[in-house]
Amino acid sequence: METKEKVNFYDSWAQDYEQHMTVMDYQAPRFSVETLDAVYLGDRDSALVLDVPCGTGLVAETLQKLGFKHFHGIEGSKQMLKIAESKGLYQRLTHHMVTADNPLPAQPDSYDLVMIVGGLAQQHLPWEILPEMLRVTKSDGFICFTLRAEESDHRRNLLTSIQELVNKGLWENVVERYVEKWQRDMLPTGLAEEYADGIVTVYRKK
Ligand SMILES: C[S@@+](CC[C@H](N)C(=O)[O-])C[C@H]1O[C@@H](n2cnc3c(N)ncnc32)[C@H](O)[C@@H]1O
Repeated sequence: METKEKVNFYDSWAQDYEQHMTVMDYQAPRFSVETLDAVYLGDRDSALVLDVPCGTGLVAETLQKLGFKHFHGIEGSKQMLKIAESKGLYQRLTHHMVTADNPLPAQPDSYDLVMIVGGLAQQHLPWEILPEMLRVTKSDGFICFTLRAEESDHRRNLLTSIQELVNKGLWENVVERYVEKWQRDMLPTGLAEEYADGIVTVYRKK
């Protein structure tokens, strides 16, 4: 399935997304925000957060409980975006399909925190996107993202890209958390018995 088709799928899923994600025990927004909470030292009141892909706004909802107030969201599915908009949490929401050659619609050095939760996966955001995430983050700003633990080409390419940015001295790892029981997948045959594992990672831009 191509990324465009995947986003069309999210368009048709949007109304039921949160309910189905609850059934799948999807807690990536909570896991990532909890992990970030332990290491984020900046002022939360004034911090500007980019949430990409923001989906229906679960990440901003969770961050708000920790004192963050200023959110911009980017999302490829119009229907997911509509739900995020209805929550009234984001000061700016942009409909934008992120591809390797379609950079983020954001100025350099704009954000104190960039959140990428449930977005770095096959048929979602391309693995080449990390330098672009760094571009829009302020110096000393944080980038928090989640990954599924199972092997894939997308994941291997991402890990290589992450390490290249470390080697170039552009960012440093702050924390990495392995989470067992990340979520259960919805298969054509029904809800998977086994849970998939996942990882939350936080980097700081140098
Ligand atoms: C699993 S959801 C995660 C949304 C949200 N961060 C959350 O945790 O609920 C993945 C989202 O990525 C969006 N998406 C996938 N590929 C995209 C792309 N290339 N550009 C923009 N949005 C994309 C989908 O439309 C969907 O809303």
